[in-house]
Amino acid sequence: MRELDQQQFNSSQDWQNKVILSDCLQSLRAMPSHLVDLIVTSPPYADSRKKTYGGISPDDYVNWFLPISQELKRILKPDGTFILNIKEKVVNGERHNYVIKLILELQKQGWLWTEEYIWHKKNCYPGKWPNRFRDAWERCLQFNKQKKFKMYQERVMIPMGDWANSRLKKLSDTDKIRDHSKVESGFGKNISNWIGRSMAYPTNVLHLATECNNKNHSATFPKSLPSWFIKLFTETSDLVLDPFLGSGTTCIAAKELGRHYIGIEIKKEYYELAVANIEKAVFNIEGKIFDINYEKKETLTMTNSNYQIYYDYIIQNVLNPFYEKRFEKLRQIKLKDIIKRKNPYLFKAKNIELAGDFVKSIVDAFLSSQEETIFGNLLEGFAIYVSQTLYNGFKSNLKSIDLEFEREGIYYIVGIKSGTNWGNSDQVNKMKENFKKAKQFLRQEKRITQEIIAVNGCMYGKDRNPWKESEDLDKSYYKYAGQDFWSFISGGDDNLYQEMILPIDIEAKKKDEIFQATYAAKVNEMTQDFMLEFIKNNQIDWSKLVDYVSKREEVKEEVKIESPVEQLSLNLEESLSSEYSGDVPLDLNDIMDVEEL
Ligand SMILES: C[S@@+](CC[C@H](N)C(=O)[O-])C[C@H]1O[C@@H](n2cnc3c(N)ncnc32)[C@H](O)[C@@H]1O
Repeated sequence: MRELDQQQFNSSQDWQNKVILSDCLQSLRAMPSHLVDLIVTSPPYADSRKKTYGGISPDDYVNWFLPISQELKRILKPDGTFILNIKEKVVNGERHNYVIKLILELQKQGWLWTEEYIWHKKNCYPGKWPNRFRDAWERCLQFNKQKKFKMYQERVMIPMGDWANSRLKKLSDTDKIRDHSKVESGFGKNISNWIGRSMAYPTNVLHLATECNNKNHSATFPKSLPSWFIKLFTETSDLVLDPFLGSGTTCIAAKELGRHYIGIEIKKEYYELAVANIEKAVFNIEGKIFDINYEKKETLTMTNSNYQIYYDYIIQNVLNPFYEKRFEKLRQIKLKDIIKRKNPYLFKAKNIELAGDFVKSIVDAFLSSQEETIFGNLLEGFAIYVSQTLYNGFKSNLKSIDLEFEREGIYYIVGIKSGTNWGNSDQVNKMKENFKKAKQFLRQEKRITQEIIAVNGCMYGKDRNPWKESEDLDKSYYKYAGQDFWSFISGGDDNLYQEMILPIDIEAKKKDEIFQATYAAKVNEMTQDFMLEFIKNNQIDWSKLVDYVSKREEVKEEVKIESPVEQLSLNLEESLSSEYSGDVPLDLNDIMDVEEL
């Protein structure tokens, strides 16, 4: 929607998901009363950014804002909330008092000043002026129309961390009685585990990083800021308003959380930027996860709440980097490079005769040879994160060991692999040797006195006999696979292995569409190259192909595909990168381990 013309919107649905180019006062006046559930906004700060979007003089600020807040109050539902992100500017060496005056005037206007949140800008650069340091926080003032307003506190709970551990120490012996795991996999759960993973309510200080990636608007706030308030004060399908929209952050957050939105922006270039940004956002992605979790509200145990942080981790630290890497690999692929690394006889044996099929097969083979390792390493990061969240687990530097943590008086060293068939007997023996060395090292050098148990964790698969006994007890270990592994890592959560699939499913659907388009373009482009070089009489020229891959070096028959510059970079890549060899180790961490023993 462009300018707010004389069009009449009668029902509240008419206003849903609108981005309006206008002065907000004008648009707000056109809106019906009791329309929106939440207002989150960051108005222009008193003329501090005059150059970019026009500022209001600090002395005029209150008078400028009050007619707007009057309208906001009218259109906000009685149980709705208004969040105002604002910070007073320094004028003539002192903080101007227009924010304080504004709060007082808003109270006179009938608003309740319910709360003040501090947005602590975590990644604020250090710096100073002669008489002050750099600003690292901003106010987020909360106003309401009445004392009783909608608020869903469970949605913003955070892991308890150290607080849980100190509570744990005070547990009675009865509390600590072991309750054996249903799968009888050798580790049990007790109340201490329950406490270990419980969640706490946050404070009114929000530690959020600023986002510096929006180059086209000078005053954006991070998406996590409106997201936090949207989760706290609204339900799915509620209507969120930002009358000073800027680059669209509030509406993007609302859309992604499955809420409806209205944004108003006075400047055409920002309006257009916001429209483009909001269009790109995917409706209801995180919201779906929320709905699913929150619909189970009556059974919302500590464990259920905990999944939210796991979902967040998986999306941000597994799926996002996985797709980034897939895109990177796709961009890097060169026909000439990957042809050389694939067995031409195999393709012939599979009777592949279409150029497109041939190219697709070698691209797929190349990508999948990398994907298992990349994804495995990222998922391993998730396992470490779970252990870190619940038991202060940490990434190990010891050879063959990825994770160390302590639970219920036992010290665990864990070597994480993707699937159960990860190694031959030499590799398994090597791991057992390393388990033994690690135990000795931990006892002698780190003075670990409690029992040390070695675990080979496999992120998928099954193993019916987890205890792997050796004559040498220090080489004996448990092999926990699939459900048992995730249950072991989380202290007995038998559902975790299933829960993980939900964010993966949702995020992959979102990302795969773009990946498929890029992939198709790449395969088509490479097919064209292939046809130029290896098609003769409309058939694949297998003889030329086999020559290209296998003919003795001294017979220099050059096949020209890339330009000389590309060829040079290809040669460099070949000599520098072992990733192209296809001999990717099953677990990259194993070769990167620092030998400490
Ligand atoms: C501090 S910025 C908001 C930034 C936004 N939170 C974001 O993350 O991109 C304030 C925005 O309000 C816009 N603005 C200023 N006066 C306005 C008015 N009267 N009506 C609507 N928008 C206005 C400015 O153009 C600017 O883009």
